[in-house]
Amino acid sequence: MSSLTSPGASAFFPPPNPEDAPYQLSQSYQAYDSAWMSRRRDGITEAQRRLAEITEMVHTASLLHDDVIDEALTRRGAPSANSVFGNKVAVLGGDFLLARASVSLARLRHPIVVELISTVIEHLVKGEIMQLKPSWTCATNSSTRSSAAEVRAAEEACDRPRVRGFSALTPDSSSATPSSLAFRADLVHYLTKSYYKTASLLANSCRSAALLGAHDARAQALAYEFGKQLGLCFQVVDDLLDARASAAAAASSLSSSAAAAVLQQLGKPANDLESGATTAPLLFALRAFPDEALPILSRRGRAEGDADTMRSLVAKSRAIEQTQRLAEECAEAALAALLQLQPSKAQSALVQLVHKVLTRQK
Ligand code: FPP
Ligand code: MG
Repeated sequence: MSSLTSPGASAFFPPPNPEDAPYQLSQSYQAYDSAWMSRRRDGITEAQRRLAEITEMVHTASLLHDDVIDEALTRRGAPSANSVFGNKVAVLGGDFLLARASVSLARLRHPIVVELISTVIEHLVKGEIMQLKPSWTCATNSSTRSSAAEVRAAEEACDRPRVRGFSALTPDSSSATPSSLAFRADLVHYLTKSYYKTASLLANSCRSAALLGAHDARAQALAYEFGKQLGLCFQVVDDLLDARASAAAAASSLSSSAAAAVLQQLGKPANDLESGATTAPLLFALRAFPDEALPILSRRGRAEGDADTMRSLVAKSRAIEQTQRLAEECAEAALAALLQLQPSKAQSALVQLVHKVLTRQK
């Protein structure tokens, strides 16, 4: 041990960048701690600011990986990392951000926050895996459609309590037909997947921010609920924009420049139909036209003409309007939680954020 601290040894172990050296930072933890909890002029603590950075790093890491999985060529209106640097570098870039986020998280030195954000990382992967599996096998296929009991069992397995309360999930099981139960179980599965994939990050980050601000259990629960509903709203709107852009690009197929303009506005590919992901618009179209849509979704839209048929089923059903309503319900639930917190400038800003998430066009 002593040789490690001798001047000779330090030549072999040159002090790295302080940011890279946990053992050096641990010496300055005390100084760290007092700065950590002091509030800045804008009212937030340094720890909360760091939490925001960690959340952003985890989110960006997940998008780097997601673009590899989806083979996406664009992201936020620019070429995606995988398209510029290749899959290997893009995956390692995501891993690097995740590692950096983990170090920053440990430095918050708040075990509950560490547990919440680590759980988010597990949820992101869980949500992505749920998306890889065709979700309508949950209930809407012919073998389970005839059995309400099986549908109910699938619904329980879909972690229903997390997403309770949306009007699309009524009527309740006692008066529902097997096919409406099947639809409901599919929608529950979709919302649960969206919770894991998107909403868990916002829910647990908001709860962590309340914890770091030393707010009580009620405020923590409201912050969690706000983040969860805002996250669900974000994902439902994402799927709505994808379906809309896909329909608009198809409608302008005679002019490739018009189709390109539609996709440029979105800033990323509209690929849910092609990738076979079961999103809210597709589930609403499936409910309206089960005989036409089920075979397509069952083969993940892989046959020639499937994407076009699904687009037309989305267009001739009320799928877009119903998806918009689902997003509005999430936004209303987010506001209901938010408005129970104490009025503040931050609260007003978050009200505007809900509106922005609901009405965004890209
Ligand atoms: C976007 O979905 C993707 C996510 C919200 C999560 C992706 C998660 C992973 C790939 C798991 C790995 C996670 C980590 C932390 C490395 P989308 O394809 O529906 O949206 P898009 O249209 O914006 O691509
Ligand atoms: Mg994607």
